[in-house]
This record gives sequence, C-alpha cells and structure tokens, in this order.
Amino acid sequence: MKFTITEFDSLPSTNSYLKERAADFPIGQVICAKEQSSGRGRLGRQFTSPESGLYFSVLLRPKSIEETLFLPIIAGIAVARGIQTDTGVLPLLKWPNDVLLDGKKICGMLAEGVADGRVVLGIGINIGASRTYFDKLNLPHVSSILAQTGKKPERLNLLDAVLSELDSLLDKPHEEVLTIYRGLCLTLGQEITASNGICGVAKDISQKGELIVETTEKKMVVLNSGEVSISGMY
Ligand code: BTN
Repeated sequence: MKFTITEFDSLPSTNSYLKERAADFPIGQVICAKEQSSGRGRLGRQFTSPESGLYFSVLLRPKSIEETLFLPIIAGIAVARGIQTDTGVLPLLKWPNDVLLDGKKICGMLAEGVADGRVVLGIGINIGASRTYFDKLNLPHVSSILAQTGKKPERLNLLDAVLSELDSLLDKPHEEVLTIYRGLCLTLGQEITASNGICGVAKDISQKGELIVETTEKKMVVLNSGEVSISGMY
C-alpha cells in the first residue's frame, strides 16, 4: 500500500481530523502529530498525548467485516514489531491491543468506521515523556518507550517501521497473523476480570480476534470488546 504522510506539530485529535476530512483523502493517507490536545481513547475515554509522542491515524479500506474486526489485532503486532526494529526491545500485547513494555502501557489504538466501509485506524505511542509526567497525572500503569527502555526512537523512523509492518501483515492470512498475535499476547494464561463482570482465565484468541475465557464456573465465554484487567496488573 502507498502511504502518504501529512505531519502536524499539534492537533486536537488525528482521528477526528481524518474522520472529518476522510472524503478528501486517498486510502493510505496518514495524519500524524507530535502531540494532541484532545486525544481520544477507547470506550469514550481521553487519551493523554504529551509532546514528543507519535500520534497518527491511517485511512484504510478493509476488504470485509472480518478484516475490519481483525484490524486491532494486526495493528497491535505492527506497533510491537516496529518498536522492536527501532529499539531492539519487543513489547507485549494486552488484549485487544494495548502495547506494553514491562507491564506499562506505552501505546493504545482506536479504529473508527467512516463512510463506504473505510476505517480510520488511530495509533498513539508515547515516546519521550518522563515517568514523573505520568505519575503527576496519576497514571501509574502508563509510560513511554524512553522511560521503559532508556531509548528514544526517532518519530518518523518509528512511523515508517510501524507502517511497513502494517502493510505486510494486512496481506497475510488471518491464521498466520493469529499465531504471531498469540505469541505476543500476555493476557493468555492469565486470570482476568472483564468490564462486564466476567472473571476467569484467558485461554485463547478466536478467529475473529475475540478473547476466549474459561470462567471460574468452568464455562467458556467469548469477549469481543470492552476492557479486561489482568490480575496484578491493570
Ligand atoms: C486507547 O488506548 O484507549 C486508545 C487510544 C488511541 C489513541 C490514538 S492517538 C492517535 C489517534 N487519535 C486519537 O484521538 N486517538 C487515536
């Protein structure tokens, strides 16, 4: 896929910017900012987006509903591998697509549908913010690549690495992608509590990217959205 990158120093939200102007842009358009003043997260939350980060949104056209549902899985792997390329450190994934270094979230993603089956995939990576910055905001489980690894990848190198992984993963069969995802997903095998109250052990990821949980009552249930906290983590 051909990606066209447009850069801003600051935007309220790269997802909002691209969604509002999606009709004017081609598939593969990337809107990128160093900071966001109103970054948006999953489940209507705010996404803290301090300066020296990489916040970007890509306009995509998944071929099917299945591919749309699978995008967060693909994007999580793309970011983890992109970070590994630039720092030598491979992050792990907390289902569905939080990217973690040493148990701290350094990246989140938000995929939003626009007209005609197109999707805006937003990815926010904290690169250079300090530990103190997140502590002051009372975000003990959030961090940055620099705070976790001592390395500070150059923003546009990291963007290139992530986009190149995304491009190659979008062409791979889902089964192959799932195998890679399972290998990176630290939720598997852990005791979890879901936002809908379900407690149990995360057993597997389904063909659709859902989390399969064995509940404490030994029933298998499938979670397709929402928030899951891992016992002893967040
Ligand atoms: C989450 O973890 O809840 C998802 C966070 C998604 C943040 C990215 S940053 C780029 C894009 N623009 C936004 O406003 N949100 C996404």
